Amino acid sequence: MMASRHVPGRAALAVAERSRGAVGAPGLTVLGCGSALPGRRITNDDMAQMVETSDEWISTRTGIRARYWCDRAAGENQRSLAAEAARRALAASGVAADEIGICLVATFTPEHATPSTACLLQRDLGLPEDALCLDVNAACAGFVYALYTASCLLSVDSHRFALVVGAEELSRVMDMGDRSTCVLFGDGAGAAVVELDPVGPGLSAVWGSRGNDDALVAGGPGTERPPYLAMDGRAVFRFATEVLPACTKEVLARAGIGPDEVDRYVFHQANKRIVDVAVRKLHLDPARCAGNIDHTGNTSAASVPLLLDELVRAGEVRSGDRVVLAGFGAGLTWAGCLVTMGPLGN
Ligand code: UT7
Repeated sequence: MMASRHVPGRAALAVAERSRGAVGAPGLTVLGCGSALPGRRITNDDMAQMVETSDEWISTRTGIRARYWCDRAAGENQRSLAAEAARRALAASGVAADEIGICLVATFTPEHATPSTACLLQRDLGLPEDALCLDVNAACAGFVYALYTASCLLSVDSHRFALVVGAEELSRVMDMGDRSTCVLFGDGAGAAVVELDPVGPGLSAVWGSRGNDDALVAGGPGTERPPYLAMDGRAVFRFATEVLPACTKEVLARAGIGPDEVDRYVFHQANKRIVDVAVRKLHLDPARCAGNIDHTGNTSAASVPLLLDELVRAGEVRSGDRVVLAGFGAGLTWAGCLVTMGPLGN
């Protein structure tokens, strides 16, 4: 007879995961942020000139009033946005480009399939040649995935600083024949320079993947799927309102802190209604969860660092603040973590 194997229940698995995450992810301090938006501002009224829609439909269903698209004729693209955001983050942090040991770019719209945008940033920014440069594709959860990766790499690397970027040019993968999807997305980039935080509560990172290429997918040349974004909006809405509160709750549990001990929640900006559900379910103070989707639209992997930078520049996130970052998206993926803001000069 085969020996019976104990199968742990969901609660036991959650606890086991909690201890694994707490041990495995040293905390991060954000030393400086930066962001970049391209020059073409497209309002909802502009969208209504291109597809059958209205400002009223878009703004009430999503909170979006405008988004920015790259002007390729003016030289704007995913790589240029990534470089601009990264330069600003470096300047804000006071860390020199040649001190960066790890450069990660979260994106699913890189300028080239290869080389990676991270590798091109090595040249664009003058990073050292021994910097570890790679792109991370976890869609809208990508920036948080990249932070977790940076934390793990920094803990075994001799370099002190990592540059983590989220950059997207979604206007390149939009189907203008699909009005329920094309009105949602915009281009942009955000970046942060980070170092390990040996004294804080740890990164308390949470992540997950649920293989699904039906709900949200962008194909590519030669694949069965068309090379633009296709989404089952309702399915993604249900998924997002499940995982965003759950993963935020788990970050707090891993950190051993209550919701009010977090100064700011920076949630992926996909739809204001999704954030509102998370705020309600977790009984968070809405003032600590304000977003920027009204003027950026959904910028996927760029959305979390873009919002973080805007909050820093507005003085709404300050030195010493504890910030929870969380994203969700195609994959399906989700991720959350807790960071501490370093000396930001604001
Ligand atoms: O970052 C990646 C994650 N993405 C997301 O989180 C997106 C999650 N999903 C959503 O945010 C929402 O599902 C949407 C905003 C995409 C759609 O909102 P909805 O309330 O689920 O609308 P719906 O797709 O159920 O469509 C309702 C109606 C339909 O008309 P009928 O069939 O009721 O007559 C659509 O044809 O709205 C119509 N519609 C539009 N009307 C005007 C769909 N798109 C548009 C549009 N303008 N752009």
